[in-house]
Amino acid sequence: MKVLVTGASGRVGANMVRRLTAAGAEVRAMIPPGDPQAPKLAAFPQVQVVEADLGDQAAINVACKGVTHIVHLAAQLMRGDTPVDRFYDINAFGTLRLLEGAVQCGNRLERFVLTSSDGTYRPGAPPAVPLTEDVPQLPGDYYGTGKLIGEIVLRNHAVQYDIPFSIVRFATVVSPEEAAKIFRVDFWRTMLGWHRLGKDCHLWPLFDGHPELAPMYEAAVADAAPDTAVGLAGPGGEPWTLSLVDVRDAVDGVYRALTEPGALGRAFNIAAAEPTPHDEGAAVIADLFEVPKLMVELPIRHQLELSIDNANRHLGFRPRHDYRDMVESGLAMTGTDSEFIPANATSGVAATWQPR
Ligand SMILES: NC(=O)c1ccc[n+]([C@@H]2O[C@H](COP(=O)([O-])OP(=O)(O)OC[C@H]3O[C@@H](n4cnc5c(N)ncnc54)[C@H](O)[C@@H]3O)[C@@H](O)[C@H]2O)c1
Repeated sequence: MKVLVTGASGRVGANMVRRLTAAGAEVRAMIPPGDPQAPKLAAFPQVQVVEADLGDQAAINVACKGVTHIVHLAAQLMRGDTPVDRFYDINAFGTLRLLEGAVQCGNRLERFVLTSSDGTYRPGAPPAVPLTEDVPQLPGDYYGTGKLIGEIVLRNHAVQYDIPFSIVRFATVVSPEEAAKIFRVDFWRTMLGWHRLGKDCHLWPLFDGHPELAPMYEAAVADAAPDTAVGLAGPGGEPWTLSLVDVRDAVDGVYRALTEPGALGRAFNIAAAEPTPHDEGAAVIADLFEVPKLMVELPIRHQLELSIDNANRHLGFRPRHDYRDMVESGLAMTGTDSEFIPANATSGVAATWQPR
């Protein structure tokens, strides 16, 4: 198979390129012009790297020439100061341009895999616990809506041009060296603080309707050192829950969506086997880093949990990494023999967290 991977230098993308080349696939890696993460791909001299922005139809057409499979990972993720229309232009219309490129290149595509998100389920106010693929997708932010339109655009093209496709919806993807940042004072401060951006908020509007929680959190962590292990709990101390997925499992899910016959025409949640309860996540950090653990009790309980039964049944997807394993893998990371390419690596491997 000849596979075009978009977003090939990203958190998932570089690891996807590695998986595909190891499986003997011919890989073309698409990155945006001037991509600072491009050096990650230097480890794969056999991979053809093409520069194309998802806004540039002519460049996309060149990138699509001759491929039999497409793994579409490129996306606009963080809000920052990104103009909001860019979420639609890149995540929705960028997907359209890529599909048009695939159609115009004249080859018969054997599979198009779109990576979508739990953001399409409105993570700030999930419609079900756990979330299955058939619950209503009613996102309330630019990112989630852009990703959902991308799904719809794909389904439309699949009907129009008979494109075999599959959709994966990731939980929060964690590269192991990033894992120890979660369940810390600052992580939840940032997540819960998104509400301050008001209408500009995207990704995780956990304060969907609950801006009062931010000052409560601040009061509870006021005396805590920045590296304190922190989890959130609802009334009575019931922990919040969060589905994560290790980047290695995320890649495995996409690979299966690309190659398994049972993937055709279906959408799959891709997450760890179990969601992580906040008390367990904070306990992992407290244990491995020998820091105090703090549970912050709030008046609501939030549960963002993805069911992976569908992926289990149709793809044989069996994620191998829980939160403890993600953190331990990040700590054990050495040199270039690591099992994964770190998200922030510009060449080889970079360690970000060390135990005290
Ligand atoms: N990281 C997560 O927690 C998460 C959760 C749910 C879904 N997803 C989805 O998974 C996919 C991969 O995410 P990731 O974590 O690897 O993200 P990432 O930001 O590490 O990688 C995204 C890549 O897209 C590329 N890109 C951005 N804008 C582009 C443009 N205009 N033209 C061409 N390329 C462009 C970037 O260069 C980057 O390498 C994305 O589609 C994302 O929406 C990620």
